Amino acid sequence: MGLRESFRAGLARQLGHPSGLRGRIVGAMLNRRNREAVVRAVAALAPTGGETALDIGFGGGLGLALLLNEAGVVHGVDISAAMLDRARRSFRAEIAAGRLVLGEGSMTALPLADGSVDAVVSTNTVYFVDDLAAAFAEVARVLRPGGRFVLGIGDPDLMGRSRMLTDNGFRIRPVAELESVLATAGLSLRRHERFAHGGLGFHLLVSGK
Ligand SMILES: C[S@@+](CC[C@H](N)C(=O)[O-])C[C@H]1O[C@@H](n2cnc3c(N)ncnc32)[C@H](O)[C@@H]1O
Repeated sequence: MGLRESFRAGLARQLGHPSGLRGRIVGAMLNRRNREAVVRAVAALAPTGGETALDIGFGGGLGLALLLNEAGVVHGVDISAAMLDRARRSFRAEIAAGRLVLGEGSMTALPLADGSVDAVVSTNTVYFVDDLAAAFAEVARVLRPGGRFVLGIGDPDLMGRSRMLTDNGFRIRPVAELESVLATAGLSLRRHERFAHGGLGFHLLVSGK
């Protein structure tokens, strides 16, 4: 593998599971590069003061910060110990006050009770999830009846043209496939928003249980 390929493979690995020193840099980069997508996803979720919200795969933690401005209690789940460390350092006061609860875990096995959450957001995560049916079933399990789920993804057609992503294991799925797996999990699509974002199109699938 050439230098360029090995750099790209390393970056792709870090995006899916930030770790170590490089992971810290990736956390800050994610907050900067994905800002518009995360801001719009949280706006589409529209959590209110009495609600409990969850960000799955929160990465650099921007989504947690935005949810904390709106929701009563916020949960954050990520598989990356580095991202959990970063969030623990960034949100000491909110954790101490019981407003933020962090958990290490996967979207396919969420460390939360059935029906314990009103609103779930997850942006730029499903590229790293093989068993999407299990993941969306977990989202449906932790949502209360009437709860909402906003899933944010880069445009699959445009992402599919990037060798860096396709050569390095990103699971790029058509929007129709995501919608179908959502429906199978009992999450019905209420709205599909799309917008331009950082040279890539971005989609928000807003669904409800
Ligand atoms: C590309 S980052 C996106 C971070 C943030 N949501 C954003 O849009 O900027 C992907 C994040 O998802 C996490 N992740 C990957 N696979 C996951 C899984 N199966 N369950 C939970 N989190 C996962 C990674 O550790 C990483 O923090």
